Parts: sequence; C-alpha cells; structure tokens
Amino acid sequence: MKTTINGKEILLREEILEKNLLEFIREDLDLTGTKKGCEIEVCGACTILINNEAVTSCRKLVKDVVGKSVMTIEGFENEDGALHPLQQAFIDCGAIQCGYCTPGMVLTGHALLFKNNNPTREEIKEAITPVICRCTGYQQIVDAIENTAKFY
Ligand code: FES
Ligand code: FES
Repeated sequence: MKTTINGKEILLREEILEKNLLEFIREDLDLTGTKKGCEIEVCGACTILINNEAVTSCRKLVKDVVGKSVMTIEGFENEDGALHPLQQAFIDCGAIQCGYCTPGMVLTGHALLFKNNNPTREEIKEAITPVICRCTGYQQIVDAIENTAKFY
C-alpha cells in the first residue's frame, strides 16, 4: 500500500498501518513542522492537508491516508526552496509569534484559498476557527491570508 506525502510516494508496510498518523509523520518521516498539541482534535496544531482538505492528524491512523495525497508544511515551499507567498505573507504581516500554530494556520489558509480565492474576512475567520492561536494574533493571520488571495 502507498500514500503520497509532499509529492513523494511512500510504501506503507502492513505493520505501520495502525500507527498514529501524527506520530508517523513526526517520528518516522521526521517532518516535525506538524505540531503535537492537545492530541484530541481540539487545537489544530497537527493540521495537515489530505487531498487538499485541512484536517487534524492526531487521531488518525496511517491507514487513513492509503491512496491519498498528504501535504505537511515541509511540502509547502516552492521547488527552488523559496517560501510560498502565503508563508511570506505571514512574515510580512507579523502573523507569527511563538509559531506553534503557524503550520496549521498556513495549511488551513491554503485549503481555503484553494477553494475560494476571494474570501471575505468573515470567511477567513470561520475557516481558521479549528486552529487555536495561543498567542492570539488572529487579526494578523487573517491579514496574511487575505493579502495572499491574489496569488491563487
Ligand atoms: S494535536 Fe491534533 S488537534 Fe490538537
Ligand atoms: S503564534 Fe503562538 S500559538 Fe499562534
């Protein structure tokens, strides 16, 4: 069985299928940009994209992504290593404080803009609701997503 993570096909051994997906991503693949927070699908720190939908990974199993396309924050930058415009906007807008929520926020913003490249601020606020920013810099996060819509 296979999955695709950040554009790379990964073979999944039978014994790994029941492993927690977040632990697989962080420990086996060493993709530690995906953060571990509450581990009960409440904080959004562990958000990844599965088939371009922003979803939490802390209560999923590896078998849940068989045959699917997964993206973590490490797969988000451009091929030349440059930051994606949405990542750059987070920096430019001052939308990063401690940074713990940032991977989940960026991926959630991307999933929204992928579907709707002209969202209202209310739509952006609603989209990022599943991700909690403990530093509470929500206005700047909304600014960053709003300012990047033109690139989608
Ligand atoms: S760690 Fe998954 S939602 Fe908090
Ligand atoms: S920047 Fe600290 S949790 Fe959001």
